[in-house]
Amino acid sequence: MNDIKENKGRFLIETWGCQMNEEDSEKLSGMLKEDGYIETTETSEADVIIFNTCCVRENAELKVYGNLGRLKKLKNINPNLVIAVTGCMMQQEGMAEEIKKRFPFVDIIIGTHNSHKFIEYLHQVKDDKASIISIQPKEEGIVENIPIDRKGSVKAFVTIMYGCNNFCTYCIVPYVRGRERSRHYSDIEKEIKDLVSEGYKEITLLGQNVNSYGKDLEPKLSFANLLRKLNTIEGLERIRFMTSHPKDLTDDVIEAVRDCDKLCEQVHLPVQSGSTNILKKMNRVYTREQYSNLVSKIKKAIPNVALTTDIIVGFPGETEEDFEDTLSLMKEVEYDSAFTFLYSKRSGTPAYSYENQVDEKVKHERFDRLKKVVNEISQKKNKAYDGKTVEVLVEGPSKNDSSRLMGRTRTGKLVNFTGDKSTIGELVNVKITEAKSFSLLGKEVK
Ligand code: SAH
Ligand code: SF4
Ligand code: F3S
Repeated sequence: MNDIKENKGRFLIETWGCQMNEEDSEKLSGMLKEDGYIETTETSEADVIIFNTCCVRENAELKVYGNLGRLKKLKNINPNLVIAVTGCMMQQEGMAEEIKKRFPFVDIIIGTHNSHKFIEYLHQVKDDKASIISIQPKEEGIVENIPIDRKGSVKAFVTIMYGCNNFCTYCIVPYVRGRERSRHYSDIEKEIKDLVSEGYKEITLLGQNVNSYGKDLEPKLSFANLLRKLNTIEGLERIRFMTSHPKDLTDDVIEAVRDCDKLCEQVHLPVQSGSTNILKKMNRVYTREQYSNLVSKIKKAIPNVALTTDIIVGFPGETEEDFEDTLSLMKEVEYDSAFTFLYSKRSGTPAYSYENQVDEKVKHERFDRLKKVVNEISQKKNKAYDGKTVEVLVEGPSKNDSSRLMGRTRTGKLVNFTGDKSTIGELVNVKITEAKSFSLLGKEVK
């Protein structure tokens, strides 16, 4: 990036939500740096503060409200401070107006479909000394070539498609991220090749449902063929992808993971519930049996595959029996890890007005029982690594002990180990000496 430019001030971005928002924030950061701004981690010295918001569950929104309230006094100290709120939460109907009413000191409110125009809005606010609310109701085509200021230096996320067409009845994402749009292969390939030339070794392909990749392209390119093509990129060591919708994970994708050396033995396959009855109400379009069969197929084709999932507890109408179906599925599949969520009512989604909303106390009690089962299985899965030697991509010093290094196995397990700092960014072999609940300990072996 151009460092001859004048320093226009300092910016700080706070991000909530998933990798989609993380990536948008990296782009906001890239654009701001290109425009002459410098990043800071201190709210008190920031001239621009951006909150990039998420609304997938109610608690994500509550955090934004709480944090926004605290910014008012900063604005009193520094009247030139520009406060912007972006992201999924703003894309909901009526939310921008609500934010402006409750927090009139906010200067810029934009949604997910126009965040690439942020610099334009920022200049406008500074020139006109007036605030901007601009929510674009519908998505447009994909905007390429936005500078991205990435956080890491070894592994990176690369979005291959935007939006979602699935409309699971609990989920707000399709309403705030628009319909599915795939990036052209040439743009994806260029981005990854550039990353490799900068030293990146691992990429995770991102999309709300990566298996739908390419269906909207002309000529069509299937997700499996995208994987096979990317597998030939020289210098790239590892490829992962998320998220796969079980209804669309086809045999050719499983075969691509089996056949391609760079594709890691890890599949994130959100099931949401183990009960066919609930799955139907969620509009997930698969039964428990279909999901189980898919898991068997994956396990057979890819030995030692690590499976991870997302579960929602307390969806409207979930009975004790339905919940036990979820518990039994956990035990049957033996996930390496699972993200567990309490069902959260989202205004505008069909499930919002479903009858038989589950009592909060029951929800929490089920959640605790689920968590216990999930953790026991994760620990058992980790134990199986004890004494084994595994390939680790070294990411940097360990978070809690800087004398150690940290990295991940191909199956996505976090490993803290003793080794040589000069190997950061490289693949090394690590012998596992201890399996902890959520990570592995080890030492490098030559
Ligand atoms: N496209 C991905 C991720 C969607 S959001 C997928 O389909 O898996 C990530 C997770 O949040 C979902 O998998 C789901 O488990 C959870 N989630 C979404 N809406 C929710 C809600 N209203 N309440 C609780 N959890 C929710
Ligand atoms: Fe939401 Fe379902 Fe789309 Fe995932 S697939 S983003 S859960 S609607
Ligand atoms: Fe992601 Fe939250 Fe938006 S989960 S897509 S940032 S609603």
